[in-house]
This record gives sequence, C-alpha cells and structure tokens, in this order.
Amino acid sequence: MPLDQPDAAARRFLFVLGSSRAEGNTETLARQAAARLPAEVEQRWIRLDDLPLPAFSDVRHAGGPGYAEPTGNERLLLDATVAATDVVIVSPLYWYSVSAATKLYLDYWSPWLRVPGVDFKARMRGRTMWAITVIGEEDPAKADPLLGTLRLTADYLGMRWGGELVGYADRPGDIRADADALAAAERFFTP
Ligand SMILES: Cc1cc2nc3c(=O)[nH]c(=O)nc-3n(C[C@H](O)[C@H](O)[C@H](O)COP(=O)(O)O)c2cc1C
Repeated sequence: MPLDQPDAAARRFLFVLGSSRAEGNTETLARQAAARLPAEVEQRWIRLDDLPLPAFSDVRHAGGPGYAEPTGNERLLLDATVAATDVVIVSPLYWYSVSAATKLYLDYWSPWLRVPGVDFKARMRGRTMWAITVIGEEDPAKADPLLGTLRLTADYLGMRWGGELVGYADRPGDIRADADALAAAERFFTP
C-alpha cells in the first residue's frame, strides 16, 4: 500500500531494533529511512535489548495447559506488534542470519499464534513486513538467509513484503560511508 495515499495517517510503523549495540549501523540506516516517512505516519521504536525475553520454551506438544497468557515484556512486544500496520525488522547480519534477540522475538510469534483470544495470525494478515540490515562483507548475497527467514515468516503469517534495505559497514558509524545504502534509505519507504 503506497505511503503517499490519503490513508498514510492510518499507518503505524513499528521499528524492532535487534542489534546488541545501541546506535549501531543498522539503527542509523533505519533512522535515515524513517526520516522520509510522511509526518502523519506513526513511528514506534523498540530496542529488543531493553525488553529482554526469557529463553523460549516449546510447550506445544507437552500435554499441559499450553502457552500462558503473555505478561511483562512479552505482553508489551505482542501489543506493539499487533498494533502495527508495518513491522520493520532492523537487524544486523549475525552469522548470516538475524541477531539472536531478533530470532527470539520471532520465536515468540509461535506462542502468540496459539494463545486464546490473541488471534495473532488473523490480525497480522495483510500487514507489511520490511527488513533493514547491515552486513560486514560487501556481498549482498550474504544477506540472503536473513532475508529468506523474514520473507518466509511474513508469508507464513499472510503478511505483505515491503522490501529490503541492505548496507555494508562494520564499525559503528561506518554506514555513513555507504553512499549507495544511504541513498537507498532515502527512497526505501517512499520510492
Ligand atoms: C556476532 C556477530 C556475527 C556477525 N556475523 C556476520 C556475518 O555473518 N556476515 C557479515 O557480513 N557480517 C557479520 N557481522 C558483522 C556485522 O554485521 C556488522 O558489524 C554490522 O555493521 C553490525 O551492525 P550494527 O552496528 O547495527 O550492530 C557479525 C557481527 C557480529 C557481532
């Protein structure tokens, strides 16, 4: 759904920051892209390290009462996720995939699919997922597993794929030297 349509005011973007360092390259790239969002689009930024989740435990087939009603940080993340029309996964490439914090957040989508009353799948259907990542090696193919993980996850939930933004950088601030990524960020959400 283009962001220059009159309904832009109804869009609520959730930026999920998955780096294990603050103000890293991925966040810088995401903020560059977000600066071009129309002013009426709501933005919410969440740093996963600020909202730690317990280790994930799969109780689907354990025969007990199933997953507990989400509380604490899990509840906050669930509420923020279902409130968003657009979920922007902002994760550096860690070992060719999303960061551990990002993966843990996505693992929790599994219980959210099953907690009675949440209707996670129905609520996420038709929403949009976007991916912003920064990788250390100047080879975009290295980001394919991360992008595949996110695209397939979006697909499973019936979400649209908004697009991907990939930058190259290693030390914090290096992303400022990736002119192509910064230019791509400018037109990422609003081509
Ligand atoms: C645990 C870890 C694993 C990494 N794995 C990869 C990798 O597989 N491929 C790659 O190109 N860069 C890898 N990097 C480099 C980061 O992607 C790069 O430094 C990036 O700029 C970090 O983003 P940030 O500043 O937003 O945290 C890794 C870095 C760390 C800390």
